Amino acid sequence: MTSLDPFDTESLLPDPLPESPFPTLAAWLAEARERGQTPNPNAMTLATVGPDGRPSARIVLCKDLDPDSGTVTFYTNLQSRKGRELAANPAVALVFHWDHADRQARVEGDVEPVSDAEADAYFASRRWESRIGAWASQQSQPLESRQMLFEAATERILDLNIDIAAAVRGDPVNIPRPPHWSGFRVLASRVELWHGSTGRLHDRARWERPDPAARDATWVATRLQP
Ligand SMILES: Cc1cc2nc3c(=O)[nH]c(=O)nc-3n(C[C@H](O)[C@H](O)[C@H](O)COP(=O)(O)O)c2cc1C
Repeated sequence: MTSLDPFDTESLLPDPLPESPFPTLAAWLAEARERGQTPNPNAMTLATVGPDGRPSARIVLCKDLDPDSGTVTFYTNLQSRKGRELAANPAVALVFHWDHADRQARVEGDVEPVSDAEADAYFASRRWESRIGAWASQQSQPLESRQMLFEAATERILDLNIDIAAAVRGDPVNIPRPPHWSGFRVLASRVELWHGSTGRLHDRARWERPDPAARDATWVATRLQP
């Protein structure tokens, strides 16, 4: 008789599959944060589609994951390559990879802009250096020299009349959000959770909802071959 002993036959994803993938996704992200083994457990690859139909991908940070609406939020420069691509085509794919936990999560959907109030609140929570950086950088545009970037940052500090001495002391400083900087919320229509297992017999499942914007949108879960 053949023994399957060397294999981990236990389900690594919740079994039966839950109605929505988001509580598990949120738990995986929280676990990655708690383990503290990676400086950016919320890093995710974001793929967008260019005007020629070709994909481009880069890392961004997940700043909110809302299990109720099934959305994932990130922030960026609206005039960057990704920002311009998203203005023309809202379709995206995201990938989280938590190597230490042998886990991957894929999210696909369309983006919608976050509200100005939401972007303002998140911008205000950033370190002052990052807030200046958002003003100084014309993200994805050519740069003659690194020196020019620091000159741009200095100019912005003067234009905005920022009290650098206070900022360095750790006192609160008011730095408004640049009009070219905001966030996008990915309304997930497809999610796939992957948990590695022995013999590459990984545990893998996909959830799909045809109309994610509908209040009562229900997910259809399907286990997949690894
Ligand atoms: C760990 C990490 C986190 C990053 N987080 C962000 C982010 O949250 N937002 C962002 O616009 N760029 C972020 N970047 C930079 C992007 O990967 C990318 O270089 C930049 O956004 C320009 O991309 P684009 O030219 O495709 O628009 C991050 C890079 C790394 C390595």
